[in-house]
Amino acid sequence: MKPITLTTLGEMKRRGEKIACLTAYDASFARLLDDAGVELLMVGDSLGMVIQGHDSTLPVTVADMIYHTRNVRCGARRAFVVTDMPFMSYASPAQAIGNAARIMQEGGAQMVKLEGSAWLAETVRELSQRGIPVCAHLGLLPQSVHRLGGYRVQGRDPASAQTLLDDAKTLEQAGAGLLLLESVPAALAADITRHATVPVIGIGAGPQTDAQIVVLYDLLGVTEKPPKFAKDFLAGAAGIRAAVQGYIQAVKSGHFPAAEHTFI
Ligand code: KIV
Repeated sequence: MKPITLTTLGEMKRRGEKIACLTAYDASFARLLDDAGVELLMVGDSLGMVIQGHDSTLPVTVADMIYHTRNVRCGARRAFVVTDMPFMSYASPAQAIGNAARIMQEGGAQMVKLEGSAWLAETVRELSQRGIPVCAHLGLLPQSVHRLGGYRVQGRDPASAQTLLDDAKTLEQAGAGLLLLESVPAALAADITRHATVPVIGIGAGPQTDAQIVVLYDLLGVTEKPPKFAKDFLAGAAGIRAAVQGYIQAVKSGHFPAAEHTFI
């Protein structure tokens, strides 16, 4: 069983093979998702909401991310493990380097994810020059929920769509090895995916991104008020393993996300 690397994910993009990603926060689920065939496990700071019960991701700390990443790495055998850098842990390039190093050394993350736009370019460059792979998260940025005025779809008007496209190019040029688009219209996500040479992961970004990710608790129908782009794969499935396999098959075959999970 060859471990998945960034090279594997890049080859999958070039072959047009969809990449199945899920969030994970503990070893048991990491093992189950990995065994089912999920290629990328994201230790998301969504854990602040789904594990810790907060109403946003803002209270999550670097120590929390290290703890959960370590647990996920104990369960994962093949999947590539990406960890979110929490709120304000990358406010400057120097802070980002120190905290990303801890998340990789103490937690075992194989890549870190940062939320932002073109302002992150210097940080992305500094991290990748030091051997730290970066996933750049664009579109709806949950850590900026108070500035954005809620969890709203981004890039709907021509000017903000162009800014998102430009930001994606800037961050890729700065060294981002993956891009993640959250809550953007499907046509814009398709455009960014076409222009990007690195794999693009979508969540609420339509069916044409190279990869899909959902929050595990949304997939299992645990979330009280799931977002429009989520689907409960456990409903009607024979159990958790079957639900995860159903998700992977739906991503690989292009059946998820469907029109009802997509923004236009
Ligand atoms: O925190 C999280 O779970 C995320 C999702 C978009 C994958 O960032």
